[in-house]
Amino acid sequence: MEYFAFQWHITEACDQRCKHCYIYALGSHAKFKQMEPAQMVKVLDNIQTFCRKAERLPYLYITGGDPILHPQFWMLAGMLKERNIPFALLGNPFHLTADNCRRLHEYGCRKYQLSLDGLEATHDRIRRPGSYHETLAAIPVLRAAGIKVALMATVSKWNCNEIPALVDVAVENKADIFAFARYCPDADSKDTCCSPQEYRAMMEKCWLKFQLYKDSSTYFSLKDHLWTLFKYERGLFNPADYPADEIVYDGCNCGNAHFTILSDGACYACRRMESKVGNALTDDLYTLFTGPEMDKYRIYENFEKCSRCELLRFCRGCPAVAAGYHGSMYAPDPQCWKEIS
Ligand SMILES: C[S@@+](CC[C@H](N)C(=O)[O-])C[C@H]1O[C@@H](n2cnc3c(N)ncnc32)[C@H](O)[C@@H]1O
Ligand code: SF4
Ligand code: SF4
Repeated sequence: MEYFAFQWHITEACDQRCKHCYIYALGSHAKFKQMEPAQMVKVLDNIQTFCRKAERLPYLYITGGDPILHPQFWMLAGMLKERNIPFALLGNPFHLTADNCRRLHEYGCRKYQLSLDGLEATHDRIRRPGSYHETLAAIPVLRAAGIKVALMATVSKWNCNEIPALVDVAVENKADIFAFARYCPDADSKDTCCSPQEYRAMMEKCWLKFQLYKDSSTYFSLKDHLWTLFKYERGLFNPADYPADEIVYDGCNCGNAHFTILSDGACYACRRMESKVGNALTDDLYTLFTGPEMDKYRIYENFEKCSRCELLRFCRGCPAVAAGYHGSMYAPDPQCWKEIS
């Protein structure tokens, strides 16, 4: 059975105030929301009912803020263990003692994603002084406890030229996975985005490093959907190898195999853009997922540029980046360099 991914933000509590963070972009930290324990039980029941109906296995990405800062975090971890639901955490490095990591593993945490947003000066400028060293120091502690470590960079103009060097850092520090995704701007921060040419050049340099380190213990995840375009241009991916049917084989998961739940229960098609479709505390998730609000994310002929591209069923760029940049998720991905007549 295939997995269905839930990104679950249980709290907004956080020890950092990153310059690019969507949580703090609207000053929402003033409210500092976090989910109550009884609500967590309700959400978990809803998720399991959804998965039974959809014939999927639940995979939870528990996040925040920093999820471990939720006062009932260990209660939730205990519930997941009891229900035999594997999970990953997307969190900060600051509370990852050997003891906490051992406990996390016992409760079923398989992977921990840490952010690495540049070399030391850049990362610490975006996040907070000392954060770079604490992030790298957490890697061996997590691994010693049997938890895989993913390093994730959020790419913007601030760090674009340092991403290839982060591949070296990931390999040297024995991260299990390295990936990057793009910064989703708002109307006031568009100039923080890379140009398509800058982005493609950065990918080229990373690709060369991936080849260089192909025998290392680090797995290079081609998370950004524009990798499909990159490989297509090099003859490493061919849509003609797939049947000429209507099936969406790959690309953005939004509307296909993903839901985000926020700490007030709000259910989003994707956390990276304004895409609220209901509330996991009051709505049945299966009804939401199969309903008209979610259909908006599955009407592929509406995507202005992608609908005319032979990679439509495999890529679709990042609709959230397009939404932040142009004000519409159907607009062209601002970093897609493909010319389409
Ligand atoms: C909200 S954080 C929560 C986990 C943890 N606090 C961290 O920073 O890794 C999850 C991911 O969202 C990314 N993120 C935050 N704001 C973003 C934005 N405006 N566009 C794209 N990614 C963003 C962060 O860089 C991080 O990789
Ligand atoms: S650490 Fe994560 S949640 Fe906290 S401000 Fe930074 S990106 Fe946002
Ligand atoms: S037009 Fe859309 S589907 Fe085609 S390569 Fe660009 S982002 Fe991907």
